[in-house]
Amino acid sequence: MKLGGELVKWDRAAESIDKTAVGVERRYGKYKRNLFAGARGRTLLVAAGTGQDFASLPENLRVTAVDFSRAMLEKARPRAALYKGSLNLARMDVQRLAFRDGTFDTILTSCTFCSVRDPVEGLRELNRVLKPDGRLMMFEHVRAGNPFLGILMDLMTPVSRLVGPDLNRRTGENVRKAGFEIVREFNVYLDIVKIFEAIKRGA
Ligand SMILES: C[S@@+](CC[C@H](N)C(=O)[O-])C[C@H]1O[C@@H](n2cnc3c(N)ncnc32)[C@H](O)[C@@H]1O
Repeated sequence: MKLGGELVKWDRAAESIDKTAVGVERRYGKYKRNLFAGARGRTLLVAAGTGQDFASLPENLRVTAVDFSRAMLEKARPRAALYKGSLNLARMDVQRLAFRDGTFDTILTSCTFCSVRDPVEGLRELNRVLKPDGRLMMFEHVRAGNPFLGILMDLMTPVSRLVGPDLNRRTGENVRKAGFEIVREFNVYLDIVKIFEAIKRGA
């Protein structure tokens, strides 16, 4: 998959994304902290963005945080240095991760699969690099189940996608398609902002 246009978009977004992140963190930060508190062992965080998620990580984890945008990672670096544990940054496309099968005990995502161009391909990669008894923990916004809101999100997505994420992702379905079993689904705001916890199917 060609990443050129996607990379330019997210490199540009790195300039302004922190302005919207303040409100998101104030409103939803506690849910993210509670979710991330369950992280254990070797942990992969996808995608790092400017590092807003690092403050929600429990201390003393061994974390690798990846993002494909150089500009995002530059902004994330000072925040990574403040983490009380081990936090390494790596520039990587989630659709082609440079890790061996079964590397991670925990994988965390935060507003990631609204943004990855081929979500099922990215999620399949997460399935591959997760240990057989590992856990995927996701904080994501998704397409509303309400027909009116869902169609509105479909109509808005071609515009939102020009500068940022899609608004109409069916992330629960995508997680299942990628070989996971969802063991917990929690609505943080309506059925739009959600937490998913998943294990490898058959684990
Ligand atoms: C909406 S931002 C969220 C960033 C961060 N998790 C947060 O909540 O502040 C989406 C992030 O996904 C990254 N991204 C998009 N597609 C990606 C890909 N294929 N591989 C790695 N990172 C990707 C973007 O660079 C951007 O940093």
